[in-house]
Formats: sequence, structure tokens, C-alpha cells
Amino acid sequence: PAPFVIAIDGPSGSGKSSVSRAVATQLGAGYLDTGAMYRALTWWCRHTEVDLQDPAAIAHAARELPLHIGDDPQAPTVRVADIDVAEGIRTSEISALVSTVATVPDVRTEMQQRQRELIADIAGRHGACVAEGRDVTTVVAPEAPVRILLTASEEARLRRRSLEVHGTSDAAAIDATRDQVVRRDRDDSTVSQFTVAADGVVVVDTSDLDFDGSVDAVMAVVIAAR
Ligand code: C5P
Repeated sequence: PAPFVIAIDGPSGSGKSSVSRAVATQLGAGYLDTGAMYRALTWWCRHTEVDLQDPAAIAHAARELPLHIGDDPQAPTVRVADIDVAEGIRTSEISALVSTVATVPDVRTEMQQRQRELIADIAGRHGACVAEGRDVTTVVAPEAPVRILLTASEEARLRRRSLEVHGTSDAAAIDATRDQVVRRDRDDSTVSQFTVAADGVVVVDTSDLDFDGSVDAVMAVVIAAR
């Protein structure tokens, strides 16, 4: 059978990463986190002291980025120049800077090209690939047989993100999270459309679903398409 690609986009806090990984695991598919690639580039720019005010310098770093990204949904590895950055790319510093890097047009062109090659390679080796991000359904893999926009109300997304980052979803933690999440989604949405579904993209709203319910809802879309 032809390699099967499942593209999943959504804003932060939609449950995109954890749901995508669970779906890939259930399907025995490989996995690609495109956001981790932009995070890895941001980490590399800091590490090599690239001026983040200089889009041409960031684009140059993108073309040279010595990135190795794993495809195991249960143990996603990210290495830059042979340094394990799986944790280093998740800090609040990188989260705060990543949109600056990801909104440079030449950076996106380079990363999208790499992502298309990775998806073809992963799907070829595993028979299927779950790829998640902000523009996978629309730009990176618009021909994917399954394309899903995972959404949730702002309230639900802030609660989840707050639990993830601060370990609590009390009012103070939600407020601290709001600034980061809302700003990052606003900045990101200037270059990719992930708040409304493009033609042919199936919306899965997880506002009222728990984690298992969200996985089941995505699996139902996948099974219907297979
Ligand atoms: O998904 P995650 O929150 O890890 O993504 C980190 C950042 O990478 C996003 O805020 C966005 O700036 C960028 N990104 C992107 N296009 C994608 C995936 C992520 O611009 N397909």
C-alpha cells in the first residue's frame, strides 16, 4: 500500500503533540513533530549567537542546521550537532523566541522542504507517518489522505498548558500562561492559518474531551479514511 500520511495541525494547548504521539503509537506509524524543528533551530541560533534581529542570518542558520530528529512516537529524540536538545528546546526562553525564528519566510521554505523529505522517508519506512504542526495540513502535506485540525476553546487550552508548564491551573498560573500562549498563537498565525480549517480539513474539537477521548476522536477520523 502507498505510504499513509496523517497531518495534524492546531494551536498550543490543543493536545496536538500528546494526541499525535498516541495515535502514531496505536497505528504503529512513525512520527514527526515539526514544531520541534523550529524549536531546535531557535536553540541553535542561541547556541551559536545568531542575531535574532537579522532574518538573513537566521535563514542561513536554518540552511546549515545540523539536525537529527527521531521518528519514534514514544521516545522523540532531537539532536543538533550531536547535542541532545530534547529538553533544551522546551524551556520558556525558547518558547518565547521561537515565533521570531519561525516567521522568517526563508526559514519556513527551508524547514518545509526538510519536513516533506522527512515525512516521505518516515512514511516509507513505517508504512505511515503522523506529522503535526501549524501548517502541515495546508502547506507541508496538503495532499495527505488524512488532515485534521485539532482545536479547543481558549479556556481549555490555557488550563492544559498551565497544568503542563506550572503543574497547576489556578488563576495566577492561568494568567501567566495566557500571556505566552495567546501572544505566541497570534504571532504564529501571521504566517500560517491554524485557527480555522482549510478546505477538506476535518476539525476535531477537544474542549470537552479528555486525553483518551481526544485520541479516540482522531482515530475515528483516521479509520474512516483508511
Ligand atoms: O508545536 P510547538 O508549540 O512545539 O511549536 C513551536 C513553534 O514552532 C510554534 O510556536 C511556531 O512558531 C513554530 N511552528 C511553525 N510551523 C509548524 C510548527 C511549529 O511555525 N508547522
